[in-house]
Amino acid sequence: MIIKSAEFTVSNTQISKLPPCVLPEYAFIGRSNVGKSSLINMLTEVKGLAKTSQKPGKTQLINHFLINNEWYLVDLPGYGYAQSSKTNRVQWAKFIKNYLEKRESLQCVFVLIDSRLPPQKIDVEFCCNLGEKGIPFILVFTKSDKQGVVKSQQNMATFKKELLKYFEDVPEMILTSAETKFGREKVLGLIAEINTH
Ligand code: GTP
Ligand code: MG
Repeated sequence: MIIKSAEFTVSNTQISKLPPCVLPEYAFIGRSNVGKSSLINMLTEVKGLAKTSQKPGKTQLINHFLINNEWYLVDLPGYGYAQSSKTNRVQWAKFIKNYLEKRESLQCVFVLIDSRLPPQKIDVEFCCNLGEKGIPFILVFTKSDKQGVVKSQQNMATFKKELLKYFEDVPEMILTSAETKFGREKVLGLIAEINTH
C-alpha cells in the first residue's frame, strides 16, 4: 500500500469527542515504551507525526491520524508503566476498555510486543481480554533491530505457545523494526486487505 498522506487529526481524553465513526480505524496498543508511536511514524514515513520518547508514558491520549483521507491509525497510551499511580491505571483501564469495546469503526487492534523479551504476563492477559470480548487483533513484535533474528523468532514462538494455552488458534504475528522499517509492507498489506473487505 502507498501512503499518500498522513495527518494528525485530534487528541482526546473523551470518547464522546472522537471523530465520527465513518472511516475504518486501526489502533496500536501495548506496554509503555514498546514502540507504538515509533511504529506509526515508520508506517507513515513521517518523522515526529506521533510523539515518541525514551521515557515510558509519553502518549497519554487517544490520537487519531488520518491516512490517505480514507482510514485512521490510532495511537493509544501504553499499559504497564510501573511509575503511574493506581488512580491513573484505573482511569487508563476504563478509558481504553470503553474505546475498545464501543468504537464501531475499529477494525482491528495491533497489540505490540517487545521482541527482545520472553512472554510478559501483562501482554498475555491483554490478549486474553481482547479474545474474550471478541475484538480482532494482530500481534506486532517490535524493535527487531536490537537483536538477531533467531532470538526474535524464539520469543515469538514462545509467545505463540503461551497464547495457545488460552486460544485454539493464534492471530497473525509480524516482526517489525521502526529503525530499519522491517515489516512495514506486511503491516500495511494487512490493513489494505481488511480495508477492502
Ligand atoms: P508510550 O507512548 O510511552 O506508551 O511509548 P510508545 O510505545 O509509543 O514508544 P515510543 O514509540 O515512544 O518508543 C519508545 C522508545 O523506543 C523510543 O526511544 C524509541 O526510539 C525506541 N524505539 C521504538 N521502536 C524502536 C525500534 O524498532 N528499534 C529501536 N532500536 N528503537 C525503537
Ligand atoms: Mg507513544
